[in-house]
Amino acid sequence: MEYEAVVDPEHPGFGPEELNIDASRLYMTFCATCHGLAGDGSGLPGAEARDFRTAENWKRGTRVVDIYCTLMEGIEGTQMRAYPNFTPWERVAVAHYVRAFLKDKPPPDSQEDYAALVEEYGLDKTQEPKETIPIEKAMELLVEEAQDRQAGG
Ligand code: HEC
Repeated sequence: MEYEAVVDPEHPGFGPEELNIDASRLYMTFCATCHGLAGDGSGLPGAEARDFRTAENWKRGTRVVDIYCTLMEGIEGTQMRAYPNFTPWERVAVAHYVRAFLKDKPPPDSQEDYAALVEEYGLDKTQEPKETIPIEKAMELLVEEAQDRQAGG
């Protein structure tokens, strides 16, 4: 499946379910510790993780492509880091999951938004989407990442 077809909101094969990615499990594994199960940003003690229920105070914005970019690059100088181990489809799926917390439903991204994203990250050159990431694999990744960090990487 072409990436552009996958991210095209008009395409029938669009969305976390169709992508066969368990976005909720990814969110709970990698995001909920800081952003909270309800997306209210309550998980991070002594600091502010973004409250996903409102579009206020976002640095990049609430488009899928904005969240995708945050997952690629993190937010410098904050505890929001990049998630380079996610596949492009996992980033798209998690971005939709995050947007679902917004009380005021945001408009879908435009074709131009997606085209720019595909261009910026060379996404048309990516592989077939992976199957749903099993929880064991997610935990393995977490451990590997922690070890990398300890090793200074
Ligand atoms: C270690 C804590 C932590 C984890 C884990 C974490 N975040 Fe964040 N996140 C933050 C903080 C803190 C901010 C606010 C940064 C700032 O001050 O701009 C943030 C901001 C964001 C934003 C707002 C971007 C914007 O435009 O302002 C998004 C979207 C986001 N996180 C998504 C995620 C997703 C998705 C995950 C899981 C894959 C995740 N975060 C995991 C701490 C975390």
